[in-house]
Amino acid sequence: MAEVVIVESADAAGDIAASLIEKLVTRRADAVLGVATGSTPLSTYRALAAKRLDLRRVRAFALDEYVGLEPGHPESYHAVIDREMTVPLGLDPSLVRVPGDGLTRRADAAALDRAGEEYERAIAAAGGIDLQILGIGATGHIGFNEPGSSLASRTRVKTLMRQTRLDNARFFASIDDVPRHCITQGLGTILEARQLVLLAFGEHKAEAVAAALEGPVSASAPGSVVQLHPRVTAIVDEAAASRLRFAAYYRDAWENALR
Ligand code: F6R
Repeated sequence: MAEVVIVESADAAGDIAASLIEKLVTRRADAVLGVATGSTPLSTYRALAAKRLDLRRVRAFALDEYVGLEPGHPESYHAVIDREMTVPLGLDPSLVRVPGDGLTRRADAAALDRAGEEYERAIAAAGGIDLQILGIGATGHIGFNEPGSSLASRTRVKTLMRQTRLDNARFFASIDDVPRHCITQGLGTILEARQLVLLAFGEHKAEAVAAALEGPVSASAPGSVVQLHPRVTAIVDEAAASRLRFAAYYRDAWENALR
């Protein structure tokens, strides 16, 4: 079962997640991180930056990228990862990868397929991902694996749900500017990471969190695939935890954990 930690704020969650990363990179200076974009991981990156660790040898693989933005677009996940993570944490940009990197705006389906396969090979060549940071979308997606994604899926192109495009429209001038497609690590790819840290904040995530952690394992709730992983820490705020049936048990287990 996942270890579920219910905290009072995104900052408190960021502190815990950053400590897990610190533990890893202290043990292994060239650790391989799987990194998410969006709002959720920002408190983790801030808390990690405050630790002033030497992360120059850390390697990182982003979960996903939009398809169809101009290279260098400020909301491309390449640009976001660079701005929010690579620069503030002092990572070596040459060790940070984003799926589909280097593709042009008009890349065709075959080129995107090749990019997905190449990304899988790059992750394998790095020895796999040690710790994967995950957010979760209101649709239940992790990475951009929307409902219906195969639980065994690998890095590939997906079509974003309208709800996801609406949710992400806050980063663009309007929903029409949010790409319809993305390239994302698959659920099977995510499951191969050695440790998963799932973060979620806010009432609008409560249903997706409950489905992921306590619902049946199903492609209809892609986040539920984490139940198949032996080492998951889910760190959620009170609002995101509000639909969890076993919340009292999770609190009790965390407060009385054998450490
Ligand atoms: C981003 C990603 C997505 C987000 C999710 C939540 O790389 O893979 O799964 O984690 O859409 O987004 P926020 O954090 O903006 O609510």
